[in-house]
This record gives sequence, C-alpha cells and structure tokens, in this order.
Amino acid sequence: MSRIRKMEFDGVIVGGGGAGMRASLQLAQSGLKTAVITKVFPTRSHTVSAQGGITCAIASDDPNDDWRWHMYDTVKGSDYIGDQEAIEYMCSEGPQAVFELEHMGLPFSRTEEGRIYQRPFGGQAARTCAAADRTGHALLHTLYQANVRANTTFLNEWFAVDLVRNQDGDVVGVVAIEIETGETVFVESKATVLATGGAGRIYSSTTNAYMNTGDGIGMALRAGFPMQDMEMWQFHPTGIAGAGNLMTEGCRGEGGYLINKDGERFMERYAPTAKDLAGRDVVARSMVIEILEGRGCGPNGDHVMLKLDHLGEEVLNSRLPGILELARTFAHVDPVKEPVPVVPTCHYMMGGIPTGVSGQAITQGSDGNEALVGGLYAAGEAACVSVHGANRLGGNSLLDLVVFGRAAGMHIEEVLRQGVAYREASESDLEQSMARLNRWNESSDGESVAALRKDLQTITQNSFGVFRTEKNMQEGIRQLAELRERIGNAHLADKSQGFNTARMEALELDNLLEVAEATAVAAEARKESRGAHARDDYQTRDDENWLCHSMYFPAEKRVGKREVNFAPKTVDTFQPMERTY
Ligand code: FUM
Repeated sequence: MSRIRKMEFDGVIVGGGGAGMRASLQLAQSGLKTAVITKVFPTRSHTVSAQGGITCAIASDDPNDDWRWHMYDTVKGSDYIGDQEAIEYMCSEGPQAVFELEHMGLPFSRTEEGRIYQRPFGGQAARTCAAADRTGHALLHTLYQANVRANTTFLNEWFAVDLVRNQDGDVVGVVAIEIETGETVFVESKATVLATGGAGRIYSSTTNAYMNTGDGIGMALRAGFPMQDMEMWQFHPTGIAGAGNLMTEGCRGEGGYLINKDGERFMERYAPTAKDLAGRDVVARSMVIEILEGRGCGPNGDHVMLKLDHLGEEVLNSRLPGILELARTFAHVDPVKEPVPVVPTCHYMMGGIPTGVSGQAITQGSDGNEALVGGLYAAGEAACVSVHGANRLGGNSLLDLVVFGRAAGMHIEEVLRQGVAYREASESDLEQSMARLNRWNESSDGESVAALRKDLQTITQNSFGVFRTEKNMQEGIRQLAELRERIGNAHLADKSQGFNTARMEALELDNLLEVAEATAVAAEARKESRGAHARDDYQTRDDENWLCHSMYFPAEKRVGKREVNFAPKTVDTFQPMERTY
C-alpha cells in the first residue's frame, strides 16, 4: 500500500459541535496546534437544534437557587446512576461556563433587570438559560467565531473513517477523507478527542439530523473499546408527529401543556406535582400509555396534542419564534390558534465512551482493571462521563458540552505540556484503519446502503423503543446479527472520488450498526426498569443488582457492570430514593 499523506497536530477534535469547538478553543488558546475534523460546516452541527437552553444555577429569578440544588435534580433525574463526582463538577462549574459564553458574545434573552433569562424545564427549578428558542444555534456561532480568532484549523467537510492505534494500543490520530477531493489522509495527533455527538438515526423516528450516525462510537467500538450505558436512550416527549422535529421542552416551560383526545390535561394524573414538567422519561411513558389505552388523537389515535395557544401571540413570538416556524412548516398548524400533534421521539444517547471528568477514555486493561487509553478523549453526547445516567434533564446537554469540552481541553494541555510521546503508527497500523474503507471501495455487488439503513432503523424502533419486552429485544438482537452479515456483503455502486456522499453514507451505516448492536445487547442485559429503560418483565428499579453502569465489550458482545461514582468531593452523597414528580 502506498503511504497516504500525513498531517500533524498536537490535538485533533473529531466533531465541530459544541463539545468539539469548546475543546478546540481551549487547546488553540493555549498555543497548541489544533484541528477540528467535521463532516459538516461547524455552525450546521446538531448542537444547533438544542433549542430550549443551557441549564445552570445562576439564580436570575430565584435567589435561593444554588448549584447544589441543580446537582440534586440531576442526580435524581439520572435515576441514581449518574456519577456524582462528575455531576458535582458540572453543576458547580456551570455558572462560570455560562458567564464565559455570555462574555464571548452569546446573545442570551434578558429579564427586565437585564439578567440572563432562565425558563423552567422538566424535573428541576426554572434555571435553563435561553436565547429565545435558538440557544444551540447561538452557542455554535459564538464558539465558531472564538475558534477562528484563536487560529483553530478547521478541516470542514472531512469525514473521519477510523482511529489509528499504534502497537502499544495508544491512539495516535485518525484516517480521514477530504470529502471534496476524496483524498484519504492520516491526521496524526498526540491527543484525539471524539466529539461526534449522538446517533439518533439508529431509530426511524428521531429529532436528530441525518448526520447523527454515531461516528465516534463506531470508531471506538471497532478499535475494541467498551461502551457504557448504551441501553439508555432518551425519547423527547414532543417530537412533531410524523416528522420528528423537536418542539422544545421550553414550550411546556413557558406554560404549554399536553392534552389527549378528550382534551384532558393527562399529566395531572401521572405526575400530580410537576405535571407536564416531570422528567422526560416520565412524560414520554405517560404519552405512550395514553395512546395505547385509546386516548390518542388523530384518525389513527397515534399522537397527543401540545397546547400553546393560551400563551398568546406575544409570548409565542418573543419566547418561541423558532417553534412557530417549525410547527407551521412541518405540522401545518399554527400554534397561535391550534394545538400541535406530538409524539415521543428518540432524542438523546445517555450512554457512550466511558470517561472521567478529564475526558480521557476508559477501557479494561489486560489485567482486567480499568485503564486510561493513551491519546484518546471523548466529550459531549459521544462521551459517558456520566452526568446523565439513565435519564438526562433538559438543558444539561449544552452544559455538558461546554463544561466537559473545556475540561478535556485543559487536561490535554496539561498532559502535552508535561511531554508525551507515543510510538509512531506503522504501515500495518494504518492499513488496519483503512480496512473498512477499502472493503467498500472494492465491493462489486450486494444490497444497497439505503435499504439496509431502513431495515436497521425499523429493527431498533420496534425492539428498543420507549417500552421494551424480552421477546422483542431478543428478536432485535437476532435481526441485527443477520443485518451485520448483510452489511458485510453490501455494495457501494458509486466509486467516484469528488463529493461522493454515497461513500459517506456507507461508512455511516457501519457506525449505525455498531451503535444499534451495543444498544440492543446492553438493553437485553439490564434486567430492571430505570430511567429511560422500561421493561415489561422487570417493571421496577432493582438497586440491589443494577445500581451500576453497564459496560458493553464489542469483541465478545458481552455486558459487564461498572461501579457508579458516589463520591462527590465537596457535598454529601445523594442516596438513592424513590423518584416521584
Ligand atoms: O427541548 C429542548 O429544547 C431540548 C433541549 C435539550 O435536549 O437539552
């Protein structure tokens, strides 16, 4: 094999969303040679669709709010398998992270006193800092501009294919394709950060963009690294029925509520105190029960309605302008006058690459104990720090991105300053990282990528949705194993070089398969119901056996258990309690 072109950096971040750009900013500002590899232009990353806000306790409205309350709500929201050391770090660093964004120029909405506007979100106090309903959009533009100023190198519209590991098992960069030319390049680095976001496209109904195909998770699994808590997928209560687009939780935060076909505000029955602002898992399940019990709306009774008209045009225009546009375009209804049809829709992957607060990836060493992976980091949705546990609170995703993107950047900076030298990748190391790309390029016949992707999404949707049964999950696992065979024999018909999006879709399909299989095996293994994981055969939480993380090991397709960190540094541990709203 002729050696491919090599580019060298101190730090390479795969993914140009909020976590990636916060990590790159930290590195670039400290003078390190930093690159971001991103398959879309950074300001088009999926962070753009985090509408409602970024949660932290800055007490604009409520002088009694405090990061410790935020921590309590987050631990409770996680159904007690969020790591308390990490949650403590996120919630206590939150105010500083948000003020830092404000000072970079993020145009937050304002209270009458001129402070940052905070709205109520589910399962917590009114502390979600908002830029109308376009907070993620504003965040991306702010971070992109700061990165340009800090001289980050952006490899825009490049696709990372696989990690490169040296003979010692360290990660020394990635093989990537420049989409415009089709050239394959070895992007070498002393630290590689996977910030590739989520993988909602394993489901057929999702709020996620087409690009959310779990590329970092696929890369890490193919390199042999374990995944944590992959059974935990959040279904957002209010995706537009039939289309999937997100109607922000901010709709309910501003006073909107859900009704069934009888016009009943049914959440009063399921969560008498928090009602429509209970945890997302609780609201999503209640909606599905309404539909299953025949109280759904529409000719097929397959959705419920989100009522907003009582808020008045002025509030809707100022607080939820993006929602008005989305509802008019995708649901063909005007929320100023009529309710919006909504249904729980896959929104967020709570699991991912296990890391500590520093962002460095964790694996199982040859002695069976936990070990850090040399050169590999993860941040944002691709990582499992774990601050979300079995159920994420709304607005904690944007906070996670900036707090842990920054933390990973700071840790890398420190490690590189101390001097780190990994063994160079050999020709055979590189060949291994090129193997699947070569397979697709050499394929001569077989099934098409589009048909296989559709099958994958149907299997995942049917077997690993809001409610799960053992029979369906086992059938899903069997079908995914069969699908792996079929994908291994699939065909890339278009072999052209320049802007070959068919090749990208084939590579993304491999990643979707890795994520779906990890999800399936982990879901079947967890024999209890907790947070977003609801089984009909084990309907209650089982703290005796399952107050732990699941760890999926790809080589053996086996699930092990990992201890939850119950050791915050400055406050008492929050002990598991019954979770009611
Ligand atoms: O509903 C929303 O605005 C989504 C926010 C989030 O998932 O954090």
